[in-house]
Amino acid sequence: MQNKRIDTFIMGMAIVFMGAAVFIMGLLPWLGRAHAMTVVTMDGKVVPAQPYTALEAKGRKVYIREGCWYCHSQYVRPVTGEDRRWGPPSQEGEYAYDVPHMFGTRRIGPDLTREGGRVADDWHFAHHFNPRMVVPDSIMPQFPWLYNGVDANGRPVPTEDAVALVAYIQKLGSNLGPWRKNFLYISGGSAIPVVPAAVQDGVEEGKKVFMRRCVGCHGETGDGKGPVAVFLATKPRIFKDGIFKFRSTPSGSIPTDGDLYRTITMGVRGTAMPNWHELTEEDRWFVIQYIKTFSDRFKEETPGDVIVIPPEAPNTPESVSRGKGLYDQMKCAECHGVDGTGNGPSASTLRDNWGNPVAPRNFTHGGTDMKSGPAPQDMYKAFSTGLDGTPMPSYADFLNPDQRWDLVHYVMSFGPPDTYLILSPQQAGDSYGH
Ligand code: HEC
Ligand code: HEC
Ligand code: HEC
Repeated sequence: MQNKRIDTFIMGMAIVFMGAAVFIMGLLPWLGRAHAMTVVTMDGKVVPAQPYTALEAKGRKVYIREGCWYCHSQYVRPVTGEDRRWGPPSQEGEYAYDVPHMFGTRRIGPDLTREGGRVADDWHFAHHFNPRMVVPDSIMPQFPWLYNGVDANGRPVPTEDAVALVAYIQKLGSNLGPWRKNFLYISGGSAIPVVPAAVQDGVEEGKKVFMRRCVGCHGETGDGKGPVAVFLATKPRIFKDGIFKFRSTPSGSIPTDGDLYRTITMGVRGTAMPNWHELTEEDRWFVIQYIKTFSDRFKEETPGDVIVIPPEAPNTPESVSRGKGLYDQMKCAECHGVDGTGNGPSASTLRDNWGNPVAPRNFTHGGTDMKSGPAPQDMYKAFSTGLDGTPMPSYADFLNPDQRWDLVHYVMSFGPPDTYLILSPQQAGDSYGH
């Protein structure tokens, strides 16, 4: 008698739970309010979520077919500092076109919600071909069937599926607009830290970091010929020459440790060079001490005087039009084109110091594509120092500070304004020391 009562009870509860499950997961979504189709950007604007293009939608199918979701979630939770690692927490509207959604619960690999735009396509092609080439201790499987033969340079050729997959990956997180400009700064990219005393001699430790994180591209001897290099349009820096693009020091000078720290923390936009904000501050300092050992320049020379970035002059239509005059006068259009798309008459012939083609920047993409960083101050710095090793010269001897600001404002006028990171005078002062 007793047993039968328990059986009935269990049966009853089973029916209740089943019913609740069907109601909550099956019916409620249909009865509930309409799904959010908008997201709030970092600048506080409400914008519509963008649907997938045909190519991205195809890539999404490849993502599902290849089982990427066994290991990768797509949901940045607003807890335990996830937003410091990956970027802003997920919003409902970001999933507007995701059927079925890819939230996932298991994270064997990193969350991919904010993966879009982190690194250039060529990083992904190398990584899918063989993750261990790029990340030596990765446990992600290889996807060799997404490649077909090799091209004349020995680079494995991605199939249509692989191209679609990478297009999909690059779309992830982009509904939020150009959020990365803020993220790079929050993640410590702009602050030049004080060297901890204990870290002064970090070469041995730095080598460990290098062999674990950097060797696939920059090569064991710092010659820029790691196995990944063949995949990359913009080649990894060759450290033995001691020539660096992103500096606060004059043209031709070696960079400060602070410059290298900033590059390593923020990565280099539009290339395969990732941002390494996830490494501890110490590891970043160690690896800098190590890469400096590749070039004698760091033993024989001291960095030149750090250039001063004065407070930004007001960005007015007059400033923009003065900037246009200077753009003509300085012949920027020779390389960057009259329309700023980077298609000037000399563009196709330009090479860097190592003989690789290098395209002048296309200004219509705005701050997102600026390798020095997304703030106007970063562009001011690029005009003042030049990008050593490339045809982009320094204008320190030709333009006074007001003229450099005018030119910054003119270049900014080509691109979407919200891609630039406008710092408060206080932030600019903290980051650029004026
Ligand atoms: C067996 C689990 C597993 C599978 C399956 C898997 N990954 Fe990964 N993935 C990882 C791990 C672990 C990492 C971290 C190490 C690394 O970067 O290789 C990673 C890293 C990544 C990264 C870099 C993310 C970052 O922020 O560093 C991307 C992008 C990525 N995977 C995409 C994919 C795609 C696309 C697929 C399907 C074609 C896939 N993964 C399949 C485990 C997996
Ligand atoms: C997936 C490939 C890849 C990996 C991994 C990588 N880099 Fe790079 N790195 C590049 C590329 C490509 C460039 C060149 C960017 C350019 O010239 O615009 C570069 C450039 C650099 C520069 C030169 C910046 C300048 O001012 O000219 C430094 C410094 C650097 N990397 C450090 C590192 C360190 C340290 C690591 C490891 C923690 C690392 N990189 C890992 C691809 C990579
Ligand atoms: C001889 C050709 C040449 C001339 C002249 C030239 N540039 Fe450049 N510029 C380049 C190249 C090449 C790059 C890209 C370098 C790279 O990506 O490593 C570049 C990059 C830039 C960048 C991007 C900096 C960054 O951090 O990403 C800006 C902004 C820029 N140029 C503005 C100008 C302006 C303004 C002028 C005129 C005052 C000018 N350039 C003159 C070739 C040129």
